[in-house]
Amino acid sequence: MEETYALGFDVYGTLVDPLALAEPLRALVGEQAMQFASVWRTKQLEYSFRRGLMRRYVDFDACTRQALRYTQQALCCELPESDQDRLLEVYLYLPMFPEVAASLVTLREQGLRLVAFSNGVEASIRALLANSGVLPLLEDVVSVDDLRTFKPDPEVYAYLARRTGRAPNETWLVSSNAWDVIGAKAAGLRAVWVKRQPDMIFDPWEVEPDIVVRGLDELPAQFARPVE
Ligand code: LAC
Repeated sequence: MEETYALGFDVYGTLVDPLALAEPLRALVGEQAMQFASVWRTKQLEYSFRRGLMRRYVDFDACTRQALRYTQQALCCELPESDQDRLLEVYLYLPMFPEVAASLVTLREQGLRLVAFSNGVEASIRALLANSGVLPLLEDVVSVDDLRTFKPDPEVYAYLARRTGRAPNETWLVSSNAWDVIGAKAAGLRAVWVKRQPDMIFDPWEVEPDIVVRGLDELPAQFARPVE
């Protein structure tokens, strides 16, 4: 089949599972592990959004570190430096979701152009994807760090399209993050929302995803022919 679309895959929550953090966290903070993971992720994203708006860029690794410090204060559980370093290290060893590898192989065979597209620093994302086994299945890694701003700045979605050499409406974001899908659509791209859990909510804005799937294994059928 002729090469058609480019697919830019969000990384955290879409290709790899950030909930895998819960296990090392449980050893450190006990029953607060899930809450800790959730506050940490929420603050990490909030910091990136605010820094993008304020144009006070620091990279995503720095947002993650600062969010970790916030979370310890919020939950009154100060961790020694060595434990903090260990937690940040776990971020480089998150496992891929089970259906990812086979799905990417099939999509590639269908002629689609596959790249990772993340808020993360390119070196960290490459390390994470190499450790989880996803990297060889992708053509490239596109990081917002090149532009020193973050999703959902429209510039970063336009950059994804430029980097894949496709027109925006031939470039797809694939993400489990509703805010990411809305960002891509607002910038003129098309988007798949990966609704990994039935209770995930899509923000009730005036924007809808073009396609909703429960996992990446539903993508090959969706892209078997040009999407209307
Ligand atoms: C990313 C985060 C935001 O990979 O999920 O861009």
